[in-house]
Amino acid sequence: MKHVSTITVPSSGAQIPSIGLGTFGSDHISPEQIAQSVRFAISAGYRHIDCASVYGNEAEIGKVFEEVFSSGEISREDVWITGKLWNDAHAPEHARKSFQKTLNDLRLDYLDLYLIHWPFRNHHPPHASVDSRSPNATPYRHDQFMETWRVLEEFSDSGHARHIGTSNMSIAKLELLLRDARIRPSVNEMELHPHFQQRKLFDFCKANEMAVIGYSPLGSPNRPDRDKTDLDTVDMDDPVIRRIAETHNVHPAAICLKWAVANQHVPIPLSTKEKNILSNLEAVMNDPLTAEEKKEIDQIDRNCRLIKGQVFLWEGADDYHDLWDEQGFIAQSY
Ligand SMILES: NC(=O)c1ccc[n+]([C@@H]2O[C@H](COP(=O)([O-])OP(=O)(O)OC[C@H]3O[C@@H](n4cnc5c(N)ncnc54)[C@H](OP(=O)(O)O)[C@@H]3O)[C@@H](O)[C@H]2O)c1
Repeated sequence: MKHVSTITVPSSGAQIPSIGLGTFGSDHISPEQIAQSVRFAISAGYRHIDCASVYGNEAEIGKVFEEVFSSGEISREDVWITGKLWNDAHAPEHARKSFQKTLNDLRLDYLDLYLIHWPFRNHHPPHASVDSRSPNATPYRHDQFMETWRVLEEFSDSGHARHIGTSNMSIAKLELLLRDARIRPSVNEMELHPHFQQRKLFDFCKANEMAVIGYSPLGSPNRPDRDKTDLDTVDMDDPVIRRIAETHNVHPAAICLKWAVANQHVPIPLSTKEKNILSNLEAVMNDPLTAEEKKEIDQIDRNCRLIKGQVFLWEGADDYHDLWDEQGFIAQSY
């Protein structure tokens, strides 16, 4: 079997396989179905799986890992496995318990990467309306974030997390973390697709020696309804993407993934269909975009954020823009 290419993590020299399988079932795909996709993906050649405790399927995925690794079919060392700490477990004692539960559920001795999923302790009941505001939600608190980061540094020290990192961050928040961290983040996971290219944040991560994992690389067509608005655009319907897909005789999804790897992102598309799991892998392994095609897609950015995080807003906040520090400074209480 031809091996998938890798991207180097600057802080350690470790190699991240340049495509991973996402495992967020978007509230409508069962844990068993996701676990089955993981099983199929590994047998097809995927060597990178993106997990999170909040996806509610780590126990089912763990059974697959145990089966695959104990059969000797593939060695644990050959698969990059990411986990994420959910917002309701940032307090140190809770973070330690949650990390241990993830290791137990996934049936692993260590994770390749452990991320703080969102830089807020704000959370919400499942299926909460996007207009609801938790009375306990607050703007970003750097003291609290660092308290949680110190716990991730412990996991790194003990070797139970080979890398630690962040997700859903802004440059302003990362600057504070880089200033105060004893162990700097090795990886940042962020939304990245042709209509949402986040160039400044991506370049900032690279300049600060972070590898970048790109989530929702196909524009998350089946994301939960709470994350959809009338202003959202559809990457795979973009005329430039469709035309280039015709030239390569592939689905537009493949073009989004070829564009991602051409930009040194590590895309983590989710699929539950064997055909799509295979064609996504194929897309990053063969028939790359020409420099001209990459350039054309670089020019179709619409700054269209799909995973807006409205449910994490606090009382008094205006709208989701307050979460993302778009003016270069961190929103404070109103
Ligand atoms: N860090 C974070 O906060 C964060 C946030 C969001 C997502 N993520 C991670 O990123 C992963 C991917 O993001 P996502 O699931 O939002 O969106 P995505 O990967 O952009 O899109 C997934 C959807 O695209 C469809 N699809 C996949 N391959 C296809 C193909 N070849 N042709 C046509 N359709 C195809 C899938 O449907 P089928 O099943 O029918 O193929 C699936 O519903 C998640 O699963 C999760 O692991 C992380």
